[in-house]
Amino acid sequence: METRYLLVLCAAVLGLVTAGKHDIYSRHSVYNVQVRNKADQHLLHELEQQLELDIWQNGVAGVREAQIMVGPERQREFLQALELHGIQYSLHLNDVAEAFELHDRQMDTWRATRRNRKVFQDYPRYEEVNEYLEDVARRYPNLVTLVEAGKSYEGRDIKYLKISTTNFEDKSKPIYFMTTMIHAREWVTTPTTLYSIHRLVENLRTEDTDVLNDVDWIILPLLNPDGYEYSHTVRLWRKTRSNHANNPACLGVDGNRNFGKNWATIGVSPNPCSDIYPGPEAFSEQETRNVRDIMQEYLDRIQLFMDIHSFGKYVTFGYGDESLPDNAAQLHLVGSAMGAAIDARKQPQAGFYLVGNSATLMYNTSGCAQDFGQDIGIPFSYTLELPSYGYDFRVPPTYVDIINEETWHGIAASARLARSFYRVRYNAATRS
Ligand SMILES: *[C@@H]1O[C@H](CO)[C@@H](O)[C@H](O)[C@H]1NC(C)=O
Repeated sequence: METRYLLVLCAAVLGLVTAGKHDIYSRHSVYNVQVRNKADQHLLHELEQQLELDIWQNGVAGVREAQIMVGPERQREFLQALELHGIQYSLHLNDVAEAFELHDRQMDTWRATRRNRKVFQDYPRYEEVNEYLEDVARRYPNLVTLVEAGKSYEGRDIKYLKISTTNFEDKSKPIYFMTTMIHAREWVTTPTTLYSIHRLVENLRTEDTDVLNDVDWIILPLLNPDGYEYSHTVRLWRKTRSNHANNPACLGVDGNRNFGKNWATIGVSPNPCSDIYPGPEAFSEQETRNVRDIMQEYLDRIQLFMDIHSFGKYVTFGYGDESLPDNAAQLHLVGSAMGAAIDARKQPQAGFYLVGNSATLMYNTSGCAQDFGQDIGIPFSYTLELPSYGYDFRVPPTYVDIINEETWHGIAASARLARSFYRVRYNAATRS
C-alpha cells in the first residue's frame, strides 16, 4: 500500500516536471492566411469569435497575409471554412507549445553566453525595466525626469521618463509621446522604447542632436506591467489583469480597445474571457487612464503619439471606423516618412512598411489609443506594428538589435517632420 502510494506520487511529480511550460498551446497551430478583399477580412473576424481564433497578425487585402492561431478542436472547422471560401493558407507553426519551448532554450543559451547584454537587447522583466529608468534618471538629472504615472491593477508602479534639454519649460518645443507594451505578449516592443532612451540620453549621436534639442520626449516603456509579467507564465497573454466579471478564469481587458473613442462599437467581444474584451466601460483600466491623463496634461504640446505594437510592419492612423481626420494628408506624410526611413535600413529579406488609415488598410476597430489621441487633438497619433522578421512573437536577440536600430531611425524621422508642422500650431496658439 505504502509503496504503491509512493509510486503514484512519484509518477505525478515526474509528470509535473516533464510537463512543458507552454503546454496550454500544445497542438495549437498557426496558419498564414491569404486575404483577398474586405469580405475575406470580414469572414476572418467572424471566425475569430466563432472558433476562438487568435489573430497574431492582421493581413492587408491582396498585399499581406494574416497569421492566425487555432486550437486543436477547431482546426478542422477553420480549414474547412477557408476552403469553402476559396481562401488559400499555409502552415506557419504546427505546434505552438513546441515552438515556444525551443525559443526558450535558444534564449537561455544566448543569455548564458552574454554576460554584458544591455537591457534593450533582451526581454527585460518589470524590475529590470524600472531599474534602467531609475538609473538613467539618476545619472542624467539635467536631462531626465522619472515620473510615477500610478499603480497597475495589481499594484505595480508604472513609470515613465521625461527627456528634455530645457526641463520641459520651453513651450515652443513639441512633445513626442511614445509607449509600448499595452499588449503583454508583444515582447519586442519594450526594447525599442528603452533603446530610444539610450540613443537620446546615453548615446546621442551628432546626427540626432536636433531631435534631442528641439523636441521634448515622454517615454512609457511598460504600459501594462501586470499583463507583461503574467505573459512570462502564460506566454500569449495580451490583456490587463483586472477582474470585472468576478471570475478568476476570465481576467483582463484589451487595453487597446478600452479608450474612449467609438468605445465597444466594432471589433470587440462582450465576453470577458475574450482577448478583445473592451472592458465594462471606456477607461475601466488604470493602465489606460494613465495614458489618457498624460495626453490631457500635455495636450497643448504633444505633437505626436506613437503606440508601438508587434507585429506586421504597419504605420496606421485614425479612425478605426474608416472616417479620416482633417489632416489625413499630413498624417500619411509623417507616417510614410517614418516607414520609409525604416525601410531604407531594413534587411533584404524583410518586406516594406505599409502606411494608412487602420480601418482602410486592415479592419475596423474601436476604442484604441491611436484614435483617442487623434480625437482629443494630438495632430499625429499612430499605431506602429514592428517587424518580426518571420519569427512572430519569438523574435531572437540578433533581430531585437536590428529592430531597435531601424525603428529608432523611423522615430527620429517622424519627430523631425512632425516638428516642422508644430511651428504653425505654436504660432497660432501664442497669437490668440
Ligand atoms: C467599418 O465602419 C464603417 C462605418 O461605421 C462601416 O460603414 C463599414 O461597413 C465598416 N466595415 C466593416 C468591414 O465592417
